[in-house]
Amino acid sequence: MIFRKKGIIGLDIGSKHIKVVQLKESKSGYQLERLGITTLEPELVVDGSILDSSRLVEALKGLIANTAVTVQDVTLSVSGHSSVIIKRVSLTQMTEEELGESIKFEAQQYIPFDIEDVNLDFQILGPAEKEDMMDVLIVAAKKDKINEYVTVVKEAGLNPVTVDVDAFALENMYELNYEIKEGENVALVNIGAGMINMNILKGGASVFTRDSAVGGNLITEALQKEFTISYANAEKLKQEGTLEGISQEDAAAVLISASEDIIAEISRSFDYFRDTTNYENINEIILSGGAALTKGFASLLSERSGIDARLVEPFKNINVPDTFDKEYLKKVEPIAAVAVGLALRRAGDK
Ligand SMILES: Nc1ncnc2c1ncn2[C@@H]1O[C@H](COP(=O)(O)OP(=O)(O)OP(=O)(O)O)[C@@H](O)[C@H]1O
Ligand SMILES: [Mg+2]
Repeated sequence: MIFRKKGIIGLDIGSKHIKVVQLKESKSGYQLERLGITTLEPELVVDGSILDSSRLVEALKGLIANTAVTVQDVTLSVSGHSSVIIKRVSLTQMTEEELGESIKFEAQQYIPFDIEDVNLDFQILGPAEKEDMMDVLIVAAKKDKINEYVTVVKEAGLNPVTVDVDAFALENMYELNYEIKEGENVALVNIGAGMINMNILKGGASVFTRDSAVGGNLITEALQKEFTISYANAEKLKQEGTLEGISQEDAAAVLISASEDIIAEISRSFDYFRDTTNYENINEIILSGGAALTKGFASLLSERSGIDARLVEPFKNINVPDTFDKEYLKKVEPIAAVAVGLALRRAGDK
């Protein structure tokens, strides 16, 4: 395969799906070049940890071959509260260079991991309310977690150049596709199989992030338990709405009650956001991730939270050539949202 030097692919390795997105940048904007999604067997990746790297490498190789990507450079992401910590802190004013030199020292009091075990990154957000202070976003990601992912990606024949975080990838995806509304708070909520990544933007800038260990698996498990069926059948029932021998009403009742549990977790994060921000309003929820596709989920969330919730459109401002199956794309686009954000990264981006 001949790889072009330019461009980067966004690679989102979740516990249920691996997603790959390749975009082409031109003067008129972005164009979708490649999109691939493959389903992983359970127990390969659990809670953001790789349990079976050789099978994961095989799955990734298969996806890359099928998707026929023409670029080797990859932005990947790590996530989950046990491996990534994002903190917004106030520090004494200093230059970016000075902070670069002292970040380890500054960060260690805010990061609950051994500072030697993490890769640190930061972004100066601007002056703080207090005089002579500035607001800084600190991101700490466990080195061993990054290494696990980087190794798998390399073994699949790709070249990892940037490591991002799901919550920030969502933000990049949002910036490309949506008009920023000054003074409004928008909650980006990505509900995968095993986790929720949340990023609340105020006037387009991130003011709150949180990962929780809850996701669509909760619904699958509830269906398995209620009807004594296999994981595979529960997934089928969840996604297609029917399974031989189970009435639609019975299935719907379980879907709703398990969805309520996920909504309760989202509400807890919203409460936490309100507590830490003088009771700011949330104006809108943009939903992504496969579990957001659960029948009736968006409207139930709207009803329970009193906030307008809608499914993300990650390709809204991306030109999609006619060679893509638009109907299929519509079905899977919330699953690809993080990978789209990752594909927008450039090497050296902060
Ligand atoms: N049409 C659908 N209806 C309901 N649920 C769906 C549908 N399609 C996918 N899902 C669910 O979405 C989840 C997978 O979503 P996604 O691909 O975003 O997760 P992931 O990134 O692989 O996982 P994570 O990041 O949580 O480890 C699974 O629980 C799956 O059952
Ligand atoms: Mg995910």
